Amino acid sequence: MSAGPTLRTERLILRPWRRDDLEPFAALNADPRVAATLGGPQDRAFSDALAERIFAEFETAGYGRWAVELPGVAPFIGFIGLAAPSFKAHFTPAIEIGWRLAFDHWGKGYATEGARAALDFGFTKAGLAEIVSFTAKSNVKSRAVMERLGMHSDPKDDFNHVRLGPDHPLYHHVLYRLRREEWKPR
Ligand SMILES: CC(C)(COP(=O)(O)OP(=O)(O)OC[C@H]1O[C@@H](n2cnc3c(N)ncnc32)[C@H](O)[C@@H]1OP(=O)(O)O)[C@@H](O)C(=O)NCCC(=O)NCCS
Repeated sequence: MSAGPTLRTERLILRPWRRDDLEPFAALNADPRVAATLGGPQDRAFSDALAERIFAEFETAGYGRWAVELPGVAPFIGFIGLAAPSFKAHFTPAIEIGWRLAFDHWGKGYATEGARAALDFGFTKAGLAEIVSFTAKSNVKSRAVMERLGMHSDPKDDFNHVRLGPDHPLYHHVLYRLRREEWKPR
């Protein structure tokens, strides 16, 4: 399905995708609790199309948004990884770190743990000078992950969603940045 390196952390495996991942990926994308910060639940076709884009990113960049496995517990709990934003903004071109986990696996530190491995790969293996992350201002859980990682925001970097109107709850976005020299692996 997707080529690419495998990263291991204390509790997680960040690995290339397999065909079996598409079903649990569609389930989490259809879950209103997961999708609330993403513009609403997505159907199977949308989910599969996103997975195809992720596979293509691995082919092009050699890294991407890894499938996350909890060894011995769950073969697929979501994705964590690196990608180039698909829209133009004041901070693009850039490489973004992002995450999306099944609801049952929130509140355990997995997003932060996996993201540390992805940041480390980005800075030490992929040679990136800076990694950004962004989300709706209201997405406090995602912002908390960014802050735990040591990423920092500046009001000058705030921006608005390119496809949503000013009345939409996800319109106002905040950008976080981390430069290679600021990265402190554990
Ligand atoms: C964003 C998202 C991945 C964050 O998940 P999360 O579980 O809050 O983040 P983490 O995995 O880092 O877990 C942190 C929490 O686990 C707790 N935790 C429990 N055990 C822990 C452990 N062993 N180590 C570290 N933290 C632990 C932390 O205290 C923290 O809890 P808190 O939120 O009550 O402060 C999740 O909400 C999600 O998938 N949302 C939908 C998709 C989305 O919005 N993606 C981002 C779009 S920009």
